Amino acid sequence: MKVHTEIYERLKAYGQTQLLAFWDTLSESEQRNLLMEIAETDFDTMQMLYRKAREASAGDAQRPFEKLEPLPCLDTTVLTEQEKILLGRSGMDGIRNGELAALTMAGGQGTRLGHNGPKGTFDIGLPSRASLFEIQCRGLQKVSEKAGRPIDWYIMTSTINYADTVCFFEEHGFFGYPKEKIHFFPQTMIPAVTEDGKLQLESPAHILRSPNGNGGMFVSLKQSGCLDALERQGVRYIFVCGIDNCLVKMCDPLFFGALRTANGNVQASAKSYIKRDPGEKAGIFCRMDGKPGVLEYTEIPQEYAEMKNPDGQWTYGDTNVLNYIFSVEAVRCLAEAEIPYHVAVKKLTYLDAATGQSVTVPQGYKFELFLFDTFLCLDDLQVVRIERTEEFAPVKNPSGIDSAESARALYLDYEAKQPRKWEEKI
Ligand code: UTP
Repeated sequence: MKVHTEIYERLKAYGQTQLLAFWDTLSESEQRNLLMEIAETDFDTMQMLYRKAREASAGDAQRPFEKLEPLPCLDTTVLTEQEKILLGRSGMDGIRNGELAALTMAGGQGTRLGHNGPKGTFDIGLPSRASLFEIQCRGLQKVSEKAGRPIDWYIMTSTINYADTVCFFEEHGFFGYPKEKIHFFPQTMIPAVTEDGKLQLESPAHILRSPNGNGGMFVSLKQSGCLDALERQGVRYIFVCGIDNCLVKMCDPLFFGALRTANGNVQASAKSYIKRDPGEKAGIFCRMDGKPGVLEYTEIPQEYAEMKNPDGQWTYGDTNVLNYIFSVEAVRCLAEAEIPYHVAVKKLTYLDAATGQSVTVPQGYKFELFLFDTFLCLDDLQVVRIERTEEFAPVKNPSGIDSAESARALYLDYEAKQPRKWEEKI
């Protein structure tokens, strides 16, 4: 098959003809596939994102806002046992009614961790040798058993790790969880580019693409048909978390109860913990020009980062845990939100068009939507503060901070203490 002149001219105009480097070696069906991928690519947007990446090499552009205010939180660390039981009971009632589904975002590439396979298959070295997927599944099983009904579990993968993820669950008998209650869906992908602005090939017939960030979750949930399915089942809220916090409290009844009983028409809730110091590398909840949001640590002005209340607490201290509950109504709305792509400078492996060899470069550009950028479309957001050591043990790096070793230590420490005795009373 000859390349259509129109496609060739289009690639030439954008300086991207290297995508056809292996054209003559492809079978007809591979050629068709590559043409489809090229046709689907929005080269104008890619060009605009590349320009943004070059401009932002000194850091992400600052978001403009005129007024910064703190966002109040519900501090669960100071609630009495009775208050916790009441909230927990309300959440558990909602779960028993089938109001809540769980969603794990497991589409990331885990570049820093460097594990071969989906991050959820990673074994952090617990005595049980449970993978991150199994740890979450056990948590979900616990709440489901208490509620007397299995909670539907949606797992967002990328198109790259979809098959490996599904196979892993099959090989492990879905960890004993009802198979029909686990639903996998792939997220949208976007091409990555090398430092010279070129799109690259992952293989002779495929453009190198990466998942479009956890902010792509709302659109992917809708496009996959999962959102319709949830609504048909009468689900009203979705508990959302990442795959890499091994202390996440799946479908935490207290968290859900807090949203169910919140005053007003609050459609979303987010967990936070208090930052340790003003320079902590984490996003902070706040109000920007009246709207709830998260300000990255790189964006918060120093005087605000260091500001304290008269009681000595940080004014802007609530840190984003990546654990939320959204009403289904809010998810529909956020799926329409127009949010900007952020640039992530990450390792890229691709097929070099000139040599035909696989090469890895340390600094390629990937483009990601951030889930928290959608918050600016919400009127309000409930922030629920938790105890960091009880609920936050991220696995990001192969060693040192936020590694398997640190997460394992936190996990075992929590297990040994069994600090949430009140949970038995809900
Ligand atoms: P991170 O931002 O830590 O990314 O994701 P990551 O892919 O796990 O790791 P690095 O940055 O490449 O080293 C936080 C959570 O969001 C999910 C991840 O799977 C993780 O649970 N995520 C991230 C997605 O589901 N899709 C994405 O496109 C990005």
